[in-house]
Amino acid sequence: MSILIQNIKELIQVEEKPRLKVAGKEMANLKTIKNAWLLIEGDRIKEFGRMSEPYKYDKKNAKIRIIDATGKMVFPSFCDSHTHLVYAGSREIEYIDKIRGLSYEEIARRGGGILNSAKRVHESSEESLVKESMTRLNEIIMSGTGAVEIKSGYGLSVEDELKILRVIKKLQTLSPLTIIPTFLGAHAIPEEFKGKQREFVDLVINEMIPQVVAENLSDYIDVFCDRGFFTVEDTDRMLNAGMKFGLRPKIHANELDYSGGIQVGVKYHALSVDHLEYTGEDEIQCLKGTETMPTILPGAAFFLGMEYAPARKMIDAGLPVALASDFNPGSAPSGNMQFILSMACIKYQMLPQEAIHAVTLNGAYAMGLSEEYGSICCGKKANLFITVPIPSYEFMPYSFGNNKVETVILNGKVIKE
Ligand code: NIG
Ligand code: FE
Repeated sequence: MSILIQNIKELIQVEEKPRLKVAGKEMANLKTIKNAWLLIEGDRIKEFGRMSEPYKYDKKNAKIRIIDATGKMVFPSFCDSHTHLVYAGSREIEYIDKIRGLSYEEIARRGGGILNSAKRVHESSEESLVKESMTRLNEIIMSGTGAVEIKSGYGLSVEDELKILRVIKKLQTLSPLTIIPTFLGAHAIPEEFKGKQREFVDLVINEMIPQVVAENLSDYIDVFCDRGFFTVEDTDRMLNAGMKFGLRPKIHANELDYSGGIQVGVKYHALSVDHLEYTGEDEIQCLKGTETMPTILPGAAFFLGMEYAPARKMIDAGLPVALASDFNPGSAPSGNMQFILSMACIKYQMLPQEAIHAVTLNGAYAMGLSEEYGSICCGKKANLFITVPIPSYEFMPYSFGNNKVETVILNGKVIKE
């Protein structure tokens, strides 16, 4: 089956020659084609061009579906490279506590925070976690996401970490989204290991990592390397152990302090370092010329009322930047990448062109997917969406909070219309 989309007002983020990521000044250079067509064959983008040179097809051919996109634009699907969307229940009670003035630390001391979610995951069956997570996946499909990373991290024991990763594996078979699982055994110190942090790190190294690899549940290892969580030394040990098993780091770094997380991530060739609210000149220099994608999570900074990461400085210094949702019950209970796109422009002074690259190609890079996803390029997977009629692509971030995604095509199949 083929799909021909015709009369596209503007085809966004086209690439003649595929790139793995976009950095610095290049991020503002967004390629588009006005008044375009695009042909999908099977699960891939076959060809695209201008309506002035229309694609010729046999009108009697029943194997080609024509979609008219007059007044509408086509974007590559969002690539959301950082989420924790397998969780049980929600934590709006803590959110009310926060409004009443309690700090994140006080909430955690009362049994809230990551440990609260871990308790709920422990009490949930794999089936119920699959069901809850499928609802969230369907929600993000409707808002334009086509590929998503999901971390474990609400297990904090061998058994429950494996449970979450098995749930993610099941979701890969049930959802039309492309899903990348990441092992995050070191997300917080569980109650029974308080004061015995080194022993918990040993558990991650000696038991969790080998079992995750034996069951082939993830290619990536994450650590929350920050003040009050895991130290640089803990992180160094876990990343080193993970890499011996072939796991590549993708880490939480510098959300709460200048934690050294960025430096240890770069040292171990992390695919991405994420959060980055505390990024100074040293961190920017350390990231320059490396394979590590700096990834910013606007949802968490917004929801927790934190400082915003210096995205503008990073791009001006020549770095690439990816943006992700961080969809999780504690600090970012939304996976809406259209909102993230708006936040990039409103709060991080990113131009719409830069923000679009950050939520597509650079996000794909941060999941190891940019050869196949993240732009409109011949031969890449046909993961894209058609908007409602909009006046310009800048309207996408401008019109914040409103859904502009109308038709969703994932791996060549129409999922929503
Ligand atoms: O990415 N920073 C660490 N972890 C999550 C928050 C988890 C939670 O509060 O449940 C994050 O923001
Ligand atoms: Fe996170």
